[in-house]
Amino acid sequence: MKPSLATKAFICYLISQLCVFSVKGSGSSLKSVQIVFRHGERTPRISYESSGESKLTNKGKKEILELGQYVQKRYRNFLKSDVDRRSVNFISSDMDRTLESASVFAYGLFQNLNEKSSWNDEGLQYEPTPIQSIPEHIDRYLQSTEPCPRYTEQLFPASTTECMEDIARENPEMINEFTKLTGNNVLLDPTTSGAAKADVIAVIGDQIRYNISNNLPLSDVGHKLSRFPIIFDISTKCQVYLFESVELQKLYSGPLLKSILDNFQAEKPKKLVAFSAHDRTLFGQLMILGLVPPEIPRTGSAMIYELYASDRRPSQRFLKIYYRNGKGLELKEIKVPGCGERCYLEHFLKIMQNVIPVNFVKECLLLDN
Ligand SMILES: *[C@@H]1O[C@H](CO)[C@@H](O)[C@H](O)[C@H]1NC(C)=O
Repeated sequence: MKPSLATKAFICYLISQLCVFSVKGSGSSLKSVQIVFRHGERTPRISYESSGESKLTNKGKKEILELGQYVQKRYRNFLKSDVDRRSVNFISSDMDRTLESASVFAYGLFQNLNEKSSWNDEGLQYEPTPIQSIPEHIDRYLQSTEPCPRYTEQLFPASTTECMEDIARENPEMINEFTKLTGNNVLLDPTTSGAAKADVIAVIGDQIRYNISNNLPLSDVGHKLSRFPIIFDISTKCQVYLFESVELQKLYSGPLLKSILDNFQAEKPKKLVAFSAHDRTLFGQLMILGLVPPEIPRTGSAMIYELYASDRRPSQRFLKIYYRNGKGLELKEIKVPGCGERCYLEHFLKIMQNVIPVNFVKECLLLDN
């Protein structure tokens, strides 16, 4: 006997109820979201552009606008329409390109989310958004520019010298071409530090990448050097060294992770905190989670940290972490090694114990002080 339509409908009903039940059964709700992102595309660090050096470009503004809109879409129900702006924080490093990125991100995040403007009755749907910035000399979170002697001391021995030596050994042709084309002998000079050499190459790689991405012509030198993929990779290869040991990770990237976790542990966590930062900020956070990025996080890349609480037992909180490398790319969940399918906050704190500074200033002192 064929099942009647009514039976089919009933079975469908049962299945749908099952689904509703299982969703409710897994019962947990989102409590807080924190986002760390890299500013949008910038002009090269050393630039012929009239718009200046390391400045956010129009393309960069669009990248971050898109990121803000993407985040709004993902959390539309969570944010709802009348977001209390005191529960949403925007924090930026103290540079024009990150401050501008934070501001365009906030615009994208709130765009059309609030139906009416509370202050402008001429149809302008815009609320100004405060952006907090951290001055460079006390920024241990986003740029890690607060002086930390112990970090510098620990960094030195491994440092980029080794990295540069490897690169030179593996890419003699590039070194020769560079020297011949630019007439600059710095790469052959044994007294120049590896970091300085890597920087010289990174600067030109930066310019070539910018021209290619903006359909600008390449100079003869640019064209010839663009054949060596290593010039685009130098920063990735040598950046790993900045976070090579647990101690370096703790001193460079630990303070930001601590700040993220402090908010998650607060009695009333902020609903959303967004940090407008740099490639190294993301690189370090990825390294802390046991992920060695295969390339420098692109402009507009983001890490998203979500905190959930069990509906029945609110003290049972777990987190999910995602990474999106550049605009338009898929958001990928990061599985924290050793944290299991459901990464409980308590467990995560234990795993991260070694990379969370307890007293940053003290831990930054040289040991023989
Ligand atoms: C990039 O384009 C600019 C403007 O056309 C040009 O002046 C510059 O030489 C180019 N740089 C490289 C490395 O090709």
